[in-house]
Amino acid sequence: MTKLWAGRTEAETAQLADDFNSSIAFDSRMYKEDITGSMAHAAMLGAKGIISQAEADTLITGLETILDDLRNGALQIDPKAEDIHMFVEQVLTARLGDVGKKLHTARSRNDQVALDFRLYLRGEIDELAELTKKLATVITDKAEQYKDAIMPGYTHLQRAQPVTFGHQLMAYAFMLLRDLDRLMDCRRRLNLSPIGCCALAGTTYDTDREMEARALGFDGIVLNSIDGVSDRDFAAELCAALSIEMMHLSRLSEELILWSSWEFQFIELPDAYTTGSSIMPQKKNPDMAELVRGKTGRVYGDLMGILTVLKGLPLAYNKDMQEDKEGVFDACDTAKMCLSVMAGMLPGMKARIDKMRKAASEGFINATDLADYLVTKGLPFRSAYKISGALVGKCIKEGKTLDTLSLEEYQQAEKLIEADVYEHIDLDTCVQKRASAGGTSVSSVEKQIDSVRRSLGQYHGEND
Ligand code: ARG
Repeated sequence: MTKLWAGRTEAETAQLADDFNSSIAFDSRMYKEDITGSMAHAAMLGAKGIISQAEADTLITGLETILDDLRNGALQIDPKAEDIHMFVEQVLTARLGDVGKKLHTARSRNDQVALDFRLYLRGEIDELAELTKKLATVITDKAEQYKDAIMPGYTHLQRAQPVTFGHQLMAYAFMLLRDLDRLMDCRRRLNLSPIGCCALAGTTYDTDREMEARALGFDGIVLNSIDGVSDRDFAAELCAALSIEMMHLSRLSEELILWSSWEFQFIELPDAYTTGSSIMPQKKNPDMAELVRGKTGRVYGDLMGILTVLKGLPLAYNKDMQEDKEGVFDACDTAKMCLSVMAGMLPGMKARIDKMRKAASEGFINATDLADYLVTKGLPFRSAYKISGALVGKCIKEGKTLDTLSLEEYQQAEKLIEADVYEHIDLDTCVQKRASAGGTSVSSVEKQIDSVRRSLGQYHGEND
């Protein structure tokens, strides 16, 4: 096929070079954006009298028909085409003749690809935001269901202080809320139009970039044409936001894996989202959570990929930049899948409240509360801490817990201790007393749930 750019060179390019050069295998997924971008461009060319209004209308109808044909399968993407931009223009010219050749006036593939990529990623961000919102809602609902289920809270993976399962889950809801915020922030910076930057220096034609930007739903235009065709920071930023979001999903996955293990037995994952072993009949494997944890690595890889492609490039466009897409697409696809699977799995997760409570009552996680009790009796915290520690040591030696020590044993250690100690170190008291802002008490967790629901309610995505 004759190249649209043939002219400068005489000899045909080698087949191997053509194959190597081609990006149609992955940029064809931007066909819709490429065509709607071209329609806006044709409309602007017509409105500004750069081509006649009749020609603009012909181009727009031709592009619309190509879009329909691609959607309903009447037209197939040619895998031999160089890229999606060339493919659309070639089909258009084949169908319309000379008018088709006017579409590329006052633009270049450099601003065209930057436009397509921004439009495509904007759509991805809207889907990702919707899914993030969905998952945050699912987690918040679960937190409400278990707002008074007591479990051990951990530091260093050692039982530390009693918390509620609802409190622990709400930590993830807040993380997802920030992930949503990061996506919207990225969208805001991305949503400027590069079309009209042309090859790099702008154009001699009297174009109206603002008009094209408005038609395509942008908030404005990229003000430096070299910047417009050179940078892909919006794609790197999206990968960074997704890497952070995947890191959150991965930590949640890790906890789901631990909690569903025989050692913890804190939760049961729904059958629909677990697998069995081909050899060990007793097993119920948390494969979905493990895959989310595993896929986090590839999203980090995608971020490194785009940063590395860009880091040494002189301005403006370089063909290296064709390598900007696959990794970013992969990051979006992967994150969308992981968010969907998590949101599908978590509603069916059941907490084993009895096991959680038992673990909480065995780990001396009320030792801080015993120390706090001694402080209320007048001891300085450091001395109280020492006495509480010594009593824990005694319990471990004698196979007891703090609530099974007798009052005599308590008073031998510290005579200020009275019978009201038992109420102070009771698990429910320990939780209810942590009513400080953000703390684990039921009323505090209820406030957290309200706050997240309010924030989620304020966010309205493009698809709402
Ligand atoms: N397929 C190319 C890409 O993805 C489109 C831009 C080509 N521009 C050029 N000057 N060769 O980057």
